[in-house]
Amino acid sequence: MRYAAITGWGMSVPERVMTNAELERMVETSDEWIVSRTGIKERRVVGPQDSTTSLSVAAAREALDRAGLQANDIDLIIVGTCTPDQFLVSQACLVQAELGGNAGAFDLGAACSGFVYALATGNAYIQAGIYDRVLVIGADTLTRFVDYTDRTTCVLFGDGAGAVVLEATNEPRGLLSTVLGADGAGSKHLYIPGWGAFVPESAGIFPEYRPYLQMNGNEVFKFAVRVMGDAAAEAVTKAGLSFSDIDMLIPHQANARIIEAAARRLDLSIEKVWINLDRFGNTSAATVPIALCEVESSGQLDEGDNLVFVAFGGGLSWAAGVVRWGTAGVQRMSTYRHSPNGVAVGT
Ligand code: ACO
Repeated sequence: MRYAAITGWGMSVPERVMTNAELERMVETSDEWIVSRTGIKERRVVGPQDSTTSLSVAAAREALDRAGLQANDIDLIIVGTCTPDQFLVSQACLVQAELGGNAGAFDLGAACSGFVYALATGNAYIQAGIYDRVLVIGADTLTRFVDYTDRTTCVLFGDGAGAVVLEATNEPRGLLSTVLGADGAGSKHLYIPGWGAFVPESAGIFPEYRPYLQMNGNEVFKFAVRVMGDAAAEAVTKAGLSFSDIDMLIPHQANARIIEAAARRLDLSIEKVWINLDRFGNTSAATVPIALCEVESSGQLDEGDNLVFVAFGGGLSWAAGVVRWGTAGVQRMSTYRHSPNGVAVGT
C-alpha cells in the first residue's frame, strides 16, 4: 500500500508583533481578559510588504530545502487558504510563480481546517498512485479582514504560513487516517461577507460596506469543543490505534480552552499537546503546520511517532488525521527531475 510521508516542513510568520497591550489601546479590552478567555498573549501581523504569497513562498522554500528537493521535483501544489491574495489566479499559482516548476496547482477553501483538508487531498493523490510528491501549504492573512474596532474578533487572529512536502512510500508513514466534515448550516456563525461574486443588494454602492470577518463566538466555541474532540478520537480509531498510542496532539490554535477540551477527550496529558497560540494567536490554516515545525525543532519527534492533527473552522468545517512521523521507505527514484541518479532518504 502507498502512503505519503512528510519529508519536508517549513513555516513563516510576519516580523511585526502585536501584543495584547497594543490592543488595549485600540479597543475596550484587557490583557487579563484576552489571556484568561483565549490564552493569546501576542500575534504576528502582516505589514505592507507581506502577503499570503510571501508567507507561503517562505514556508514552502524551507520545506523544499528540508526535503532536499527543488520546485520542479514537485507534482502538485495545494494551498489551503481563505485569504488568497487575489481571486483569479489561485494562490497556488502565485506561489508557483515564485518557486518555479510546472506542477499542478490549486487552492482548497476550508477556512481554518484548510491545511488538514489539503493534507488529506495531497495524501489521496499519492495513495492513488497519481502523484509521488506533493507540496501542501496552509496560509492565511486574516488580519487583513479583521475589524480593529470589534473587540470580539480583533484579539483572536494572527497571520502566517506553514508547508509540508509529501512523498510516496510503501511504509506506513504520513496520514494513517482521515476525518473530514462540514456543517454548512453553521456557515452563518463565521464568515466574511461581500468578498465574492455575490454582494447583497442591501450593501448598495457601499462605501459603508465592510467585508470584515463576522463571528458568533459562542456558537463557534460550542461547535469547536464538540468536533475537535470527536474528530480527533475518530481519527485515532480509524487508524487502528488507541489514545495511549498518541505521542503528540497538534491542534488548531484558536482558544486554549478548546484545545484543553480536545486533550481531555483523548485522555492526553497537556505535555503531549502543542500549544503556541500565546505567541501566534489564530493563524487560521497555518496553525497546524506551524505547530508541527515547532514540535519538530523542539527535538520531540522520533521516527514512528504517532501525531494527531485536528482543526475546525468556518464552514463550519472540521478535519483530523493521525500522522505517523518519519521517512521510512521513501526512495528517490530515477524519475526525479533535479536528481537524475536518485537519492534514498528513507531507512
Ligand atoms: N475584551 C473584553 N471583553 C470582551 C472581549 C474582549 N476582547 N470580547 C468580548 N468581550 C465581552 C463580551 O462583550 C461579553 O460581555 P457582556 O457579558 O457584557 O455581553 C463578555 O466579554 C463575554 O463574551 P463571550 O462571547 O461570552 O466570551 P467567551 O468566554 O465566549 O469568549 C471567545 C469569547 C474568546 C470569542 C470564544 O467564544 C471563542 O473562542 N470562540 C471560538 C472562536 C473561534 O475559535 N473562532 C475562530 C474559528 S477558526 C476560522 O475558521 C477563522
